[in-house]
Order: sequence, then structure tokens, then C-alpha cells
Amino acid sequence: MTVRPLIAGNWKMNGLADESSAELKALADLLANADTVACDVLICPPATLIYQMAQISKDSVLQIGGQDCHANVSGAHTGDTSAAMLKDAGATYAIVGHSERRTDHGETNAVVKAKAEAAIAAGLIAIVCVGETLEQRESGETLAVITDQVKNSLPVGATAENTVIAYEPVWAIGTGKTPTPEDVAEVHAHMRKDLAGLMSDADGVRLLYGGSVKGSNAAELMALDNVNGALVGGASLKASDFWPIVETGLK
Ligand code: 13P
Repeated sequence: MTVRPLIAGNWKMNGLADESSAELKALADLLANADTVACDVLICPPATLIYQMAQISKDSVLQIGGQDCHANVSGAHTGDTSAAMLKDAGATYAIVGHSERRTDHGETNAVVKAKAEAAIAAGLIAIVCVGETLEQRESGETLAVITDQVKNSLPVGATAENTVIAYEPVWAIGTGKTPTPEDVAEVHAHMRKDLAGLMSDADGVRLLYGGSVKGSNAAELMALDNVNGALVGGASLKASDFWPIVETGLK
């Protein structure tokens, strides 16, 4: 089955309006000038910039997403953003369960699952993040941790259209370290197998790799079996750094 890749940038808590607008415009221009766009391209800016970035990209194939959403539709949750609000601002995707949220905000699999369900209910595509810590990898628990997270964070009603899974080893995020291609392929094959037991169209689910993806390693990672795209942090902030990664998905 051919799966359309997704190359996604997660800007995290970076970006103010002027500079971010310029970078997003530059990315939209590069996409507009590309011969073919054989992948989906997404930027997840901080919540404050979603509306503005969605306006800038409204005539482009470039899509905009949130980095998190609340599990509830509305209510007394000071500082939080609902999935419907993200959608209202122009988002089409929401990342949920990023390891920084699991760590900084104590998000459990159950919380991540509820957020993913809220994202889907609002009409967004949920990008559910999973990944082991260094300690878990060194003690040989990687596959068990991934199975636990995939199984227990997967939203009820997940389909290949409304759910993406991103494998982001915690120790590879922002460190310049990446697992070997063999290790990435092993985890992705394992996730595909886990999903096959949980949903009927598991073969079509996009499985992204994230963690220190850059122009120099993207092609090798994207060529691996069961890797259907990337979730990129630092190297997505500048269009000039992100473009060589996007290009690996355009072919
Ligand atoms: P880096 O690409 O900066 O390692 O971040 C990865 C990430 O956390 C994307 O969500």
C-alpha cells in the first residue's frame, strides 16, 4: 500500500510574529515552486501564531497544526486550548502526547488518548507521539514501552485518515543523536504490527520518525520501511533548514 508521507515541523515554544511569518512565507513559496508535492507538509507553530500562520498559508498546500489540545470542548481550564479552537483558528492537525508534554505536564496515556479523541471529534488529524527514554532503551524495554504507549494512547475510532503515530525516542530529541536505521526500522515495524491488532486499516497509518532529523540524515531515515514521514523540531524553524527534509518526501 502506498502511504502519502507527512513531513511535519514542530516549532515548540519558538517564534514571534514577524520572523515566523517570513519563514512560513518562504516555505510556502518553496512549495509553490516545487514540480510535484507528493507529500503533506505541516507546520505546528505556537498557539499564538496558529491563526496568523493559517492565514499566510491559506492558498498553499502547507497545513497548520496545534502542538497540544485539551480533552474537553470548552470550560474552566485556564490557559488551555480546545481542539475546536485550533480548528477555528485554521489548524487541520494537532500533536498530542509529545514527550515534552508527557514530562512537563505529567500527561499519561489515558490523557493523551482523550486529547486525541477530542482532536478527531473536532475534525482534526491527531498526531500521537510515543517514545522510550534512554534508560528504557538501555534496559531493553523499548518495544514493550512502545506497545504500551501505542495501545493505550490510541484514540477510539482511530483510522488511517484521522490518526498519525510519531515515534520520537526521548533521548534523540534535540540532542543530535539518532537511533541507528536498523533500530528505527525495528520500532516502526513493531508499531505497524501493534496497530494491525487494533485497527482494520493499520497499513495506511502514517508512522513518522522524530528526534534530531536534519537535512543530512532525512533521506536515509525516510527510505526505511514503515517510515512515512518525519516530525522535526529544531530543523523546522527556518525554511532553509526544513526544505531539504521536505524534499525527501516530495520524491
Ligand atoms: P528535534 O528535531 O529538535 O530533535 O525535535 C524533535 C521533536 O521533538 C519534534 O516533535
